[in-house]
Amino acid sequence: MKNTGTRVWQLDPDRPDPEIISRAAEIIKKGGLVAFPTETVYGLGANGLDGEAVAGIYRAKGRPSDNPLILHVADLDMANRLSRNLPPQAPLLMEKFWPGPLTLVVPKAGGIPQQVTGGLDTVAVRMPGHPVALALIKAAGVPIAAPSANRSGRPSPTTADHVLADLEGRVDAILDGGSAGLGLESTVLDLTGPCPIILRPGGVTYEQLAGVLKEVAIDRSVLGEKLSKEQVPRSPGMKYIHYAPAAPVILFEGEPEKVRQALSRRAAELSARGKRVGILATEETAAGYAGGAKILTMGRRKNPADAAALLFGRLRQFDQLQVDVILAEGMETRGIGLAVMNRLRRAASEIVKC
Ligand code: TXA
Ligand code: MG
Repeated sequence: MKNTGTRVWQLDPDRPDPEIISRAAEIIKKGGLVAFPTETVYGLGANGLDGEAVAGIYRAKGRPSDNPLILHVADLDMANRLSRNLPPQAPLLMEKFWPGPLTLVVPKAGGIPQQVTGGLDTVAVRMPGHPVALALIKAAGVPIAAPSANRSGRPSPTTADHVLADLEGRVDAILDGGSAGLGLESTVLDLTGPCPIILRPGGVTYEQLAGVLKEVAIDRSVLGEKLSKEQVPRSPGMKYIHYAPAAPVILFEGEPEKVRQALSRRAAELSARGKRVGILATEETAAGYAGGAKILTMGRRKNPADAAALLFGRLRQFDQLQVDVILAEGMETRGIGLAVMNRLRRAASEIVKC
């Protein structure tokens, strides 16, 4: 389908207008692209069973074609049809966490276009917990392939405005259902090996999974270990720079008071050299930095869900403020904090251990 400008349709996130949903579903069925809200971030959707349509996603995003996509389903039947052999842990995980921010990597069934899986023998599947996303998939009647609706490498979009800023003229329509709730993407859990492995931490935490599964591991790349050239990442998306705003991000990790001191010193040095400095702090720490820098907060330090909800929007705000460099405070990796730190580490061009 030829793209002739991007239409934006506002709708009530809790009770989406069936008329608008059916218009959007028609676009999907004809092979077009529709961005839509999920409970994590906005997705850029196409018919997941139509290889040509899926190729359009990669073109719109400028995404490397070996980075596979998640197929979004509206019910368990749809999910079951996508796997030739559902791993034994899958039914329990689906029952506990679907609809919700958990993506399961399972052996793929026949008939899934290779554009979806990047040539892998596995496929990533999730049932999103957002009424607009579920209504759209149901109305389209097919699984919807959808990466985050940002230009490749940029912070993921948590509002329709973010999508428009990155993809105007490159997608057929955007369903504007307000802010995505969680603000960070789903957890990607690989069920194809002997032990379930978290390939990307996200909305469902390690602690939640460990409470349900006998064993669960975290992929080394999640914890910020750099892969050597010879190592092949298990999740192809892990090898690319991600989530990066225009200005370089320098991340400071460690004991909070040491972080404050080291970050303040670096801010003063950079300002003295004429750089416009942005500082990503928390409610508790923001007042501790001297004036001059543009300071934005990620909510309260003791509530990492605030940081999850705010992080991507704040990185985009620094672009608008036109800072030359962003100095960011790290946080604890407990609960959703692991996902926040994974995104910050991957956005960072330098990590300072304090
Ligand atoms: O919350 C989310 O997951 C959002 C919303 C829109 O659902 N989607 C999203 O998609 O974040 P994307 O494409 O930005 O990230 C998908 C991640 C990538 O890191 C990709 O490499 C990994 O999932 N992935 C997809 N299929 C895979 C597979 N078969 N094996 C391993 N990793 C896979
Ligand atoms: Mg993404």
